[in-house]
Amino acid sequence: MILVSRSRDKLEDLRSEIKSAGGRAEVFPCDLAKMEAIDAMAAAVLKKHGRVDILVNNAGRSIRRSVHESLDRFHDFQRTMQLNYFGAVRLLLLVLPGMKERQHGHVINISSIGVQAYPPRFGAYVASKSALAALSRCLGPEVADDGIAVTNIHMPVVRTPMIAPTGIYKSFPTISPEEAAEMVLSAVLTRNPEVSTRLGKLGETVDVVAPTPPRDDGGLPRLPGLPGWRGEEGEGEAGPGGDLAGGGGDGLLNEGDSLLRVGDLRAWPDPGSRGRRR
Ligand SMILES: NC(=O)c1ccc[n+]([C@@H]2O[C@H](COP(=O)([O-])OP(=O)(O)OC[C@H]3O[C@@H](n4cnc5c(N)ncnc54)[C@H](OP(=O)(O)O)[C@@H]3O)[C@@H](O)[C@H]2O)c1
Repeated sequence: MILVSRSRDKLEDLRSEIKSAGGRAEVFPCDLAKMEAIDAMAAAVLKKHGRVDILVNNAGRSIRRSVHESLDRFHDFQRTMQLNYFGAVRLLLLVLPGMKERQHGHVINISSIGVQAYPPRFGAYVASKSALAALSRCLGPEVADDGIAVTNIHMPVVRTPMIAPTGIYKSFPTISPEEAAEMVLSAVLTRNPEVSTRLGKLGETVDVVAPTPPRDDGGLPRLPGLPGWRGEEGEGEAGPGGDLAGGGGDGLLNEGDSLLRVGDLRAWPDPGSRGRRR
C-alpha cells in the first residue's frame, strides 16, 4: 500500500500497523491540494513501484456553512474544490495512462451521502464531491473496455475527526471508521460503479420525487426519522463558526425513537445483493 497525506508521523503509525498485520506499506507525504506536489509524489511512486493498481481518492475537507454566511468567503469554495476535486483529478490523470496500458486498474472516489441528499449549508463541500462523482460517472464507460473500474462511494456520516466540530452529528446515525473501511473493501472486491447505503439511496429517491426542500432543516437530509421530516424542529442556535451548538433539542434524532435505525444505515450492501449494482 502507498499511504499519502500531509502528516508523515500519522502515515508512519499506519504503516507500522499494516506491517504488524502482515502487510506492506510505504509512506509518501504530500499536500494533495498542491498540484506540483502531487506531480512530484506520483512521479516518485511510479519510479519506485512502476504502477498504481488501485487509486483511492480519500483525502478531503468539509465545510458546513450557509452560502449567506459565505459571501466574503470565496476561498471556502476554492479550498473544497482544490482538494476534493482538483487534487483527485490531478492524481487520476497521472495514474490513468498506466492503467490503460496494463488494461487493468481501479479508481475509487470517497464521495458523500451529501451528493445524494443535498443537505443545506454543505454547498461548497457537496459541490466539490458532486463534481468528482460526476466526472467519474462519465469516465466509467470510457475506460470500461480498458479493464478499468471507477467507483463512487457515497459514504454516510463516519465517526472521524472530520465530524467532531459539528455538534448536530451527535444525534445523527453514524458508522465507525472500520465500517467505512469495509465499504472501501466492498468497492475493491466488487468493482461496482457505486457503493451506497440504503439511507443514501432513500435520499436520492426523495430528491427525485420532491427536490425542493421546504426549509433549511439544519443541514440534514429530509429523510424519515430525521428532523425536518413531517415538520419536526431540527434547527438550533448558530454557534461559533456557524455550527449548531447543541442542536435543536427534542426534534433531533435518537436511535431509539427514529423511523430510521442505525442498523438500517449499516445494512449495506443490501442482503443478497453483493456484487449487484446498487
Ligand atoms: N467523516 C464523515 O462523516 C464523512 C462522510 C462522507 C464522506 N467523507 C469523506 O471521507 C473522506 C475521509 O474523511 P475523514 O472523515 O477521514 O476526514 P478527516 O478525519 O478530516 O481526515 C482527512 C484525511 O485527509 C487527509 N488530508 C486532509 N487534507 C489533506 C491534504 N491537503 N493533502 C493530503 N491529505 C490531506 C488528512 O491527513 P493530513 O491532515 O495528515 O493531511 C486525513 O488523513 C473525505 O474525503 C471526506 O470528505 C467523510
